[in-house]
Order: sequence, then C-alpha cells, then structure tokens
Amino acid sequence: MKKIGIMTTGGDCSGLNTAIQRIYRGATLRGWQVIGIQDGTDGLCTTPPTVIKFNEETLPIENARLAGSFLHNGRADALNFETAAERGKIEQFNKKLKDSIKELKLDALILIGGNGSLSLAWCNREIYSDIQLICIPKTIDMDIPLTDRTIGFDTAVQQLTSFCDQLMLSARSHHRWFVVQSMGRDCGQLALNAGIAVGARAILIPEIKFDIDALINHIKTITEDHGIIIVSEGISLRGHSGRPADMISRKLTKAGIVNRTAFPEHTQRVGDTTATDRILATKMADCALNAIANNETYVMTSISNCECKTISLSDFFNTGEITSDPNIPDVKTSDSYVSPNDPLLEIATNLGIYIGEQK
Ligand code: F6P
Repeated sequence: MKKIGIMTTGGDCSGLNTAIQRIYRGATLRGWQVIGIQDGTDGLCTTPPTVIKFNEETLPIENARLAGSFLHNGRADALNFETAAERGKIEQFNKKLKDSIKELKLDALILIGGNGSLSLAWCNREIYSDIQLICIPKTIDMDIPLTDRTIGFDTAVQQLTSFCDQLMLSARSHHRWFVVQSMGRDCGQLALNAGIAVGARAILIPEIKFDIDALINHIKTITEDHGIIIVSEGISLRGHSGRPADMISRKLTKAGIVNRTAFPEHTQRVGDTTATDRILATKMADCALNAIANNETYVMTSISNCECKTISLSDFFNTGEITSDPNIPDVKTSDSYVSPNDPLLEIATNLGIYIGEQK
C-alpha cells in the first residue's frame, strides 16, 4: 500500500478541488492512503506537519466543482521558497520540508502548482529525493511550458467572457466602449482567448507591440459606437504609468472615444469549474496516479493533442524562458508565452480585431 500526499501551491484557480477529489477516489480504489497537506509548503513547516485525512465526508463529490482549494494555498506572510531565499534560509527551509515528508512516511507527493511552484520544486529537487514527486500544472495564466492546457484556464476564460458579455449590454445602452483589464501576468493567453470568445474589437497582449494611434484609428473606423477592448495586465505604454486599462482609457478619451474601464480581478480565478476543466483535472489526476504506479518521479502531467502523459520536470524547466525574480535572483521560473504562430492571432486579424503591430 502506498501513502500519497497532495499539496496545492501558488494562486488558486478553479479545478483544484476536482483534481483533489479525483486523486482521492482513484488512489482509494487502488488501496492507497491519501492525505492532504494544508496551506502548501506552510503545512510542512509546522511541527508536526499540518495534514488532513480524506474520506467521503471531508471530500463530497458535490464540492469538487467549487473554486478555491479545500487544502488552502498558503499564507502570504509564511516562510516559503521565496521568503526563505530572500532571508538566506533556503537550506534550513528545504531540510524542514524533507524532514516533514519523512515524518509523514509518504511514498509520493502530488504537487498541484503553477510555473513558479513547479520551477521551485525542480530547482530544490533534493527535498523529494526519497519519494516520488509528481506535478500537475494549474494556472489561469496558461504560461507553463510543454502542456497545451493547465487546470483553471478554461474556467478563467469563461469567467472573463461572461463578465465582458454583461458589460456589452451596458456599453450598448450608453454608446460607449469598455476597456477591460484581464489577469495573466506577462502572458497574453487569457486575454487572447476571452477576447476571441467575446468578439472584442481589440486585444492587447504583452507578447505583441501595439501602436496607440493605430488602436485609436481602428476603433474610429468601426461603425458601432460601443464594444469591448481587452488589455492584458502585462502590457505597457511607453512614458505612461498606472494600470494598463487606465492608460489606454485616458488615450481613448483624449481622442474623443467615450469609454469606461472595468477590472474583473479575482473573479477570473473563481466560478464553478467548467466541464472542460473538470475533464482536464480528471485526466491529469488519473495520469498522476498511473505515474505513481509506474514508479515515475520528477515528472509533470502534460496535455498534448488531447492526450495526457508525463514529461520530465527537467524538460519542463529547460524548455521555457527562464526569468529570475528581480528581488531574489536565486529564484528562477520557467515561463511560456503566446507563440507568434498561435492560430488565434491570424484568426483575430482576419476578423478585424486589432491585435497590435504583427510582422
Ligand atoms: O498567476 C495567477 C494570477 O492570478 C495572475 O494572473 C495575477 O497577476 C496574480 O496571480 C494575482 O496575484 P494575487 O492574487 O497575489 O494578487
């Protein structure tokens, strides 16, 4: 019999609970024991480690569609990889995690995290040398290399799309535009996909340079006097500071285009998990359990052409673009972005959506 720990780290998103519930169910059917580590790595920093035992009552099926994480994702002020590195305590921190894993007598840990958590797990891999480490990628930003999909992305696109759909009705009533700022950090996937779903007239993403005068001219040529412009939070406008949507809005106003800004913020991270995200979470949970059964370690579940398989964490880390935390150079993250060959870019252009100054 194996003993498995599950941990959710980084920002929450919808679909985490589906993954947890499916792992619990699949593992129980295999005769394995499953425990949940509370609050990400915080749960391993306490003495004894803070864990919960799952059963049908603590993990009811009807809760598996709810956003957030039953296990919590950690407190901002707690000791974690970033703060430990910043305070020169990374060795003690890593030792504490390794000791807690030993104390829990785990055979395997399933870590559900974003590109930061997965990169940190790989860069500090000695912590997990006595067990099997299986990672599952989740994030609304969809900025994780080597997987076509991440848990939480589809629900976030749906949430942002619904938000914009509602605003369209108000925009029409008042003959004005809405500049909606999406999340996504420095990756434009969320803005691009929701923009296409909504039928936005312009989508600005960090990966593509835009020209503010070209954007203004484009909006002025549109016969309708209302609509949606989506700007990703990662864009910048030379010589301007503040929130990207505010910067664009001010320029539009100056050019005589009546508009308002809107900020869906963390509503993009919540919302009942879409069926697509639940299926994805289920595929990834099943793949993670198969990987444990096959004695794999240091792997990540990955979707390629709808098929879920494992890839090595080393490939994940080395394939992306490595960025260093500006305050803590030792903390490195492997990132992915919207590819210049993404078919949605050409489709957007064909449909008259301003997407920036593409070559
Ligand atoms: O990485 C997920 C994400 O939601 C980003 O899109 C966003 O920039 C960030 O997290 C927000 O983080 P916080 O909840 O800490 O403000």
